[in-house]
Amino acid sequence: MDKKFCTIISLFVGIAVAVVFMVPCLYAGTEVPDVIKMEHKAYTKHKKGIVEFAHKKHVKEYKATCGECHHDKDGKPLENLKAGDDVQNCMKCHKKAGYIKGKKAKGLSKEQKLEYHANAMHDNCKPCHKKFNKKNGLKSKDKGAAPTTCKACHPKAPGK
Ligand code: HEC
Ligand code: HEC
Ligand code: HEC
Ligand code: HEC
Repeated sequence: MDKKFCTIISLFVGIAVAVVFMVPCLYAGTEVPDVIKMEHKAYTKHKKGIVEFAHKKHVKEYKATCGECHHDKDGKPLENLKAGDDVQNCMKCHKKAGYIKGKKAKGLSKEQKLEYHANAMHDNCKPCHKKFNKKNGLKSKDKGAAPTTCKACHPKAPGK
């Protein structure tokens, strides 16, 4: 083979190899900010103040495991989830943007209530916070307590 031809072939092989190795960099799974402003766009309007959810801190400092919040289509915890994996947003399955309670929720099964996004959020966040406070002898108002009251999580009305 002549030398020029070899050079061109090696160049193409080089580029092909580089592209193959670049793919995982381009598809680095689902990104997640360290602190998530819980302002899901599926809601046409937020009645309550926007919750700031310290996603990274919950994992790193509060030692919550991925599977304590993320699960599959059967509700089975995704304990082997890693940073960089493809992760579905809760809204994918708990797809009714809203919060159902009181009279409107009367007669609905647990499953039907869980279709509402805010109910699923509350049912995930609150029990763990209550457990943490109880274990540490903290009241909701105490310093270092995990928020359990509406105001502690939803600090102020949107736009204020
Ligand atoms: C305390 C609960 C909690 C823990 C623990 C947690 N997550 Fe999340 N994560 C959430 C919530 C809630 C959202 C969705 C926020 C939103 O609606 O934007 C989310 C979103 C994400 C997203 C972005 C998905 C998307 O498109 O909205 C990724 C990626 C992710 N989490 C990965 C992880 C991994 C990996 C771990 C474990 C190392 C983990 N999470 C631990 C609650 C948690
Ligand atoms: C792939 C679909 C899917 C995704 C994504 C999903 N869920 Fe679920 N979730 C389910 C199913 C299915 C159940 C079980 C419902 C039932 O009990 O009938 C469930 C149950 C729950 C429950 C009730 C658990 C219990 O034992 O009482 C909570 C709370 C919840 N999800 C919160 C979340 C949160 C928070 C997220 C995002 C971090 C999320 N879900 C993402 C499908 C999903
Ligand atoms: C598995 C347990 C667990 C779950 C689930 C959980 N949290 Fe927490 N969260 C904690 C603990 C523990 C603390 C308090 C730790 C401390 O103050 O030392 C905390 C503190 C907080 C705080 C106040 C301090 C801070 O870091 O901002 C906010 C706000 C918060 N959580 C929001 C949420 C929201 C929103 C969800 C649901 C999407 C959620 N948490 C789900 C364990 C949990
Ligand atoms: C542990 C934190 C936490 C507590 C405590 C909490 N919420 Fe929420 N709430 C959330 C999160 C997270 C969402 C999801 C918002 C989003 O993703 O857009 C939400 C959503 C909502 C929504 C639907 C969105 C909106 O703004 O209209 C309503 C209504 C709501 N909460 C009312 C309440 C009320 C009333 C209380 C007290 C009884 C309460 N919440 C306590 C975390 C909390």
